[in-house]
Amino acid sequence: MTALDHKDISDAVRIIKNGGLVAMPTETVYGLAADATNETAVARIFEAKGRPQFNPLIIHVSGMEMARDFVEVPPRAQKLMAEFWPGPLTLVLPRKQHSNLSLLVSAGLDTVGVRMPRHELAQALIKAIDRPLAAPSANRSGSISPTRAEHVRESLGERVDMILDGGPCPIGVESTIVKIDGDAATLLRPGGIAREEIESVLGCALSSAHGKIEAPGMMTSHYAPDATMRLNATEQKPDEIHIGFGDVANGKPTAFNLSETGDLTEAAANLFAYLRAADRMAKMQGLKTISVAPIPMDGLGEAINDRLARAAAPRD
Ligand code: TXA
Ligand code: MG
Repeated sequence: MTALDHKDISDAVRIIKNGGLVAMPTETVYGLAADATNETAVARIFEAKGRPQFNPLIIHVSGMEMARDFVEVPPRAQKLMAEFWPGPLTLVLPRKQHSNLSLLVSAGLDTVGVRMPRHELAQALIKAIDRPLAAPSANRSGSISPTRAEHVRESLGERVDMILDGGPCPIGVESTIVKIDGDAATLLRPGGIAREEIESVLGCALSSAHGKIEAPGMMTSHYAPDATMRLNATEQKPDEIHIGFGDVANGKPTAFNLSETGDLTEAAANLFAYLRAADRMAKMQGLKTISVAPIPMDGLGEAINDRLARAAAPRD
């Protein structure tokens, strides 16, 4: 479809206004969107994802003005919004006492994660509905995030009322999440905007979340393919599917390369699609392991390494 198909947008608006679920493209990953002011609709998101109820959702807004209806925006948050919105930055901010925002959205916390997506379909949808959209990544809980419409179809199938197809997501990893609490700024999840960029705007270092399950996206096993993962692999063993990076590429048909030129932005955009493809290939060939080349930690490398570590984490 064309980038902005008005018929599709108006169908999506109708579904969401009626409390339904629409998978919408964003610049990071596809989101499973519902009206964030409709408690039943938000409950449906949890049901469709099979997500533990204690995991709060991000609300997607049309800008700072809409955000202010639901959260307090201290000066440091305002500065980050001015610099990075629209874009892949979620700010966790104090929830306003009296608003019509669903309580399930913040899952019992007194904060809300807010972001303004850059993708024009997501923006068009929020503007047309004129309400915030609650949207987690449009995959079953714990599995790989979708960066294409067909990933959503594979993962959620009939559980979603409509999928707005906006093609592949240009960034490919989820938003960076920063919690602003008075003067403290904490990185809750590395993502599409590099830590260094945020720190340079704030003029100070971001503190870390100490692995506390405050943002339960911090649950260790996440983004998990069926195959076992072997990270920092400098070579591919015969019984492995390999995901390479830069020079570590080996050209075998059982090897993918996140970026032959060693470009971390390109690697982030390919990450989830290649994890899926590698997992599918492993299954077809009866192999049990996906090995992944070392990825540097700078720029988007922090987010890529975070997702890989979770994909490799022991599962219950
Ligand atoms: O790029 C993204 O952020 C995508 C697109 C669709 O916008 N969304 C996304 O949502 O990744 P989700 O639900 O898969 O991950 C959101 C993370 C979760 O780990 C959740 O725990 C955390 O954000 N989160 C949301 N609200 C929070 C809050 N009030 N306090 C702490 N963590 C929060
Ligand atoms: Mg997710």
